[in-house]
Amino acid sequence: MAKINFGGVEEEVVTREEFPLERAREVLKNEVVAVLGYGVQGPAQAMNMRDNGINVIVGQRPGTKNWDKAVADGWVPGETLFPLEEAAERGTIVQYLLSDAGQRSQWSKIVECLNEGDMLYFSHGFSVTYKDDTGVVPPPNVDVALVAPKGSGMSVRRNFLAGSGINASFAVHQDYTGRAWERTVALGIAIGAGYLFPTTFKNEVYSDLTGERGVLMGALAGVMEAQYNELRKHGHSPSEAFNETVEELTQSLIRLVGENGMDWMYANCSTTAQRGALDWKNRFRDAVAPLFEQLYESVANGTEARITLEANSRPDYREQLEKELAEMRNSEMWQAGAAVRALRPENWGREVDKYTGTQVHR
Ligand SMILES: NC(=O)c1ccc[n+]([C@@H]2O[C@H](COP(=O)([O-])OP(=O)(O)OC[C@H]3O[C@@H](n4cnc5c(N)ncnc54)[C@H](OP(=O)(O)O)[C@@H]3O)[C@@H](O)[C@H]2O)c1
Repeated sequence: MAKINFGGVEEEVVTREEFPLERAREVLKNEVVAVLGYGVQGPAQAMNMRDNGINVIVGQRPGTKNWDKAVADGWVPGETLFPLEEAAERGTIVQYLLSDAGQRSQWSKIVECLNEGDMLYFSHGFSVTYKDDTGVVPPPNVDVALVAPKGSGMSVRRNFLAGSGINASFAVHQDYTGRAWERTVALGIAIGAGYLFPTTFKNEVYSDLTGERGVLMGALAGVMEAQYNELRKHGHSPSEAFNETVEELTQSLIRLVGENGMDWMYANCSTTAQRGALDWKNRFRDAVAPLFEQLYESVANGTEARITLEANSRPDYREQLEKELAEMRNSEMWQAGAAVRALRPENWGREVDKYTGTQVHR
């Protein structure tokens, strides 16, 4: 592990320098890695490992769209693609990458397929941490670990193909074989992680649920809507309100933050922007701090997990989700967004917006 100073706090992390791909291949050379689930994370991790020379098979419900997607991605039924339980039986490392609600519903079958010394791998601490709600309690004679990429499965694959990686956390929850640590880190390297930082199952799920409900998704969309609505209320056009709320952020400012940090982005804005942003930053921080406190509490006491499991287990979950997403998509703000995206030079002249299907030019 390499010791790295993160803002004054020393942490140990694993990079490809201390743990190169050749070592990961060596550690995994006698393993069959069964990736169960071919949704978002499944394909990315399975294909990255396959490209890295790891022995991978996929488990997915036959007759589904995701089964067809797996076939289209080159997995061969009966050779490298199997129904869930058959893949789990064949694997010595079982990567449980069903949706978190799916993990709960399939658990009683999958647990029967685990053999002594196998590794049960997750990409989220959810099922194990909230075991009272999920019933996922691994048997004592297997290794249990997680590698959780800090990005969408789509970026896990895209960044891999582009030669970069997505950072991931890792944790060993149970070490039966004495090899759990090296198996886990090898898997993290094999799926193409940037660097790997240690966590626990509980910390992974608490931080993840807080992050996605907060800044990464929930707060982001909420704050954007609030600002857009305020600008519209005062008569600003949709185009102006959208550009000042979303487009300038995604096309310019947040990229600068990603490259060199917030202060660097501030340093490269006008003095007017700097002064105002520095003054208002603390007001926003203080205004939302109580909400973050409530959010963390709701995660820690299991409320968020229960809401998620209940909602995702409803038979009409996908329909309801599509309704809510359509409402967002069809709102004035995001319709304005579709029009703004269509006017980007690289999209100019395209028939339809590729994300919304909106006709943009003829
Ligand atoms: N999405 C991400 O980018 C991301 C990022 C980091 C970590 N993770 C974690 O990675 C894991 C997988 O997440 P994901 O987003 O890839 O999940 P997802 O896209 O929702 O995965 C769905 C997969 O689960 C299967 N599934 C769902 N319910 C099922 C059920 N009742 N029975 C059998 N199969 C079922 C689906 O099969 P069908 O096609 O048959 O429905 C599909 O293969 C989760 O633990 C998640 O928290 C995800």
